Amino acid sequence: MTENEFIPTSYTAKIKSGTVTYRSPSNIALVKYWGKREIQIPENPSVSFTLNACATTTTITFDEKKNTNEAFSFDLLFEGKPMDSFKPKILVFMQRIEKYLPFLKEYHFTIATTNSFPHSSGIASSASGMSALALCFMDIEKRLNPNMKESYFTMKASFLARLGSGSACRSVEGDIVQWGKHEDTEGSSDLYGIKYPYKVHEIFRNYHDTILLIDKGEKQVSSTIGHDLMHSNVYAKTRFKQAHENLSKLKTVFAEGDLKSFTTIVESEALTLHAMMMTSIPYFILMKPKTMEVINEIWKFRAASNTNVCFTLDAGANVHVLYPEHEKDIVYPFIKAKLVPYCQNGAYITDRTGFGAKKNNTP
Ligand code: DP6
Repeated sequence: MTENEFIPTSYTAKIKSGTVTYRSPSNIALVKYWGKREIQIPENPSVSFTLNACATTTTITFDEKKNTNEAFSFDLLFEGKPMDSFKPKILVFMQRIEKYLPFLKEYHFTIATTNSFPHSSGIASSASGMSALALCFMDIEKRLNPNMKESYFTMKASFLARLGSGSACRSVEGDIVQWGKHEDTEGSSDLYGIKYPYKVHEIFRNYHDTILLIDKGEKQVSSTIGHDLMHSNVYAKTRFKQAHENLSKLKTVFAEGDLKSFTTIVESEALTLHAMMMTSIPYFILMKPKTMEVINEIWKFRAASNTNVCFTLDAGANVHVLYPEHEKDIVYPFIKAKLVPYCQNGAYITDRTGFGAKKNNTP
């Protein structure tokens, strides 16, 4: 699909008002997206596990505006309370997607959103939040255009979510999603995420991700700035090439269930992401001493237990501990005994791979 194919020519139905709710999960990248071009085009392809427990639920209530003027009109509620500080981000999002959803200025929207995880947890809500919002808007478009095909709906929801936050385009479906053009992946695109189209060994089914909340503080450097710094990072080209290579390697790893190679790729990707931060100018470090201690504990335990527990990191200090379902009885007690003590106030989230966003049909 090309960008122009997401611009509707006309709508066949008329709707005055309505309401829609979507629950959309977060995702954790195995091959990382870090570096982008205008507008929201990734410098390299990425692939992620869609999560299940960490999610955003968004309800949009919409009413046709009495006086159609040229402004976007919306209220924003977060956890039931007005949250004006979130509005500029939503406004930018609406401006970016208006071309693809020309009905946006015809309605007043009340957007009510809640997260399943605590706001101050250091868990980024942009992936789940932007995908939930994109799906709600797509649901409204489907009412205006009832013949819309399911495949187009999903693709366009991911396309729109990407314009809100890159990683959000990987949260629409599950349980493994690739975003970004890659020569070995048929159907892959820089414009939207696709369900991973090749064989995935059953060992990756129901994969666990226990998220250790090491530091709940505000990040010193946002992802937006971090992506931007890749333009001048001297290692950027090599890094983008490496991401392509890692995706090629993952094809065999996924098919064969090769957990040793999976660990090597996933941990290397996490450390490379942070190496890119450290080699940017200005440089910055988002890991905390406890992040390093947890990593060392995982390495020690993996060697001693002969399990396949491994870690990955997002753009922060928290550690995602990944392990297969059949090892949970060994790994989870280890996490509770040895790793949870490193968490701020002992806080952690038990999550696992899930199957993407869901519409909530009960009002
Ligand atoms: C480190 O998707 O948050 O989590 O597109 O600017 O919203 P924007 O960035 P964002 O970046 C996520 C970066 C990452 C890696 C990943 O999820 O692939």
